[in-house]
Amino acid sequence: MTTSGSPRMTHARAPGKLNVFLKVGALLDDGYHDLATAYQAVSLYEDVRAYPADDFSVAFGGSIDTSGLATDGSNLAIKAARLLARVADFRGGVRLEIDKNVPIAGGMGGGSADAAATLVACDALWGTELGREELLSLASQLGADVPFAFTGGTAIGTGRGDQLSPALAKGQFHWVLALADFGMSTPGVYSELDRHRERHAQDIFPAEVQPHVDMAVLQALRAGDPVMLASVLHNDLQAPALHLEPGLSSIIELGEENGALAGMISGSGPTVAFLAADLDSALELQVALSAARLKVLRATGPVHGARLIAD
Ligand code: C5P
Repeated sequence: MTTSGSPRMTHARAPGKLNVFLKVGALLDDGYHDLATAYQAVSLYEDVRAYPADDFSVAFGGSIDTSGLATDGSNLAIKAARLLARVADFRGGVRLEIDKNVPIAGGMGGGSADAAATLVACDALWGTELGREELLSLASQLGADVPFAFTGGTAIGTGRGDQLSPALAKGQFHWVLALADFGMSTPGVYSELDRHRERHAQDIFPAEVQPHVDMAVLQALRAGDPVMLASVLHNDLQAPALHLEPGLSSIIELGEENGALAGMISGSGPTVAFLAADLDSALELQVALSAARLKVLRATGPVHGARLIAD
């Protein structure tokens, strides 16, 4: 395949995510854990623009400080582009420009969204036409959350979190996100959970038992009922994240005192996600948390997965 006739630029957008329910099962031989999670894609987006180039490069911009991000081959977007090029036998490269709006290392899958949008943008730029199923299988080779950034909406994830089945969801949920001024390492938080389980042998998740998403979570999503969903939000990574960063507890309390239906650590943290009853309470909560000098964003979900944007 050559670059002749390819577009001058393609633009794809993929969303960040929240895990409204996350149960962590046994530690597997490959270092990953068995999971059962309910994902919701939310309206914070990563925008990837892909330009023809001879080699592979990435540059970042957008609403957040991206100065600490790697731009070499260790970056997940570059890995995504290289993987697609290899599989599609494409001989050129790509220059990626990514506008980031999902908090970095915040537990909301921003890097995964970069990778998903990169697959979509490069597929269109290079005319590889691999098709949805094959792109999805490449997504799962890139990371546990990448397939969900690709599909979006609301979905149940099992296995490493990459085996997806769509979940019915009605209406729109209103989220308020309190951002930390530090990042947390996902492997670090999982290791803390393992250490905790070793210390308290009774908590060890039996390898033969598969974790599952509670029926009540599926019912709340299907009903589009925030009060119901707030009562069943759950994250097994919350306790280890709070153990590593105890200061996050007071942020959860502050939100719950200011009208949030419930607050929880998002994924492996440190972003704290609050579920609000409606837009008005989300706005009030945003004001209250901002007054406490927190950096706050608002988002709604569910939203679409990775897709091309016509500029
Ligand atoms: O796949 P991803 O790169 O997002 O995963 C980052 C790390 O999170 C993994 O290396 C692993 O330590 C941990 N993880 C896990 N079990 C999962 C997903 C992630 O232990 N199901």
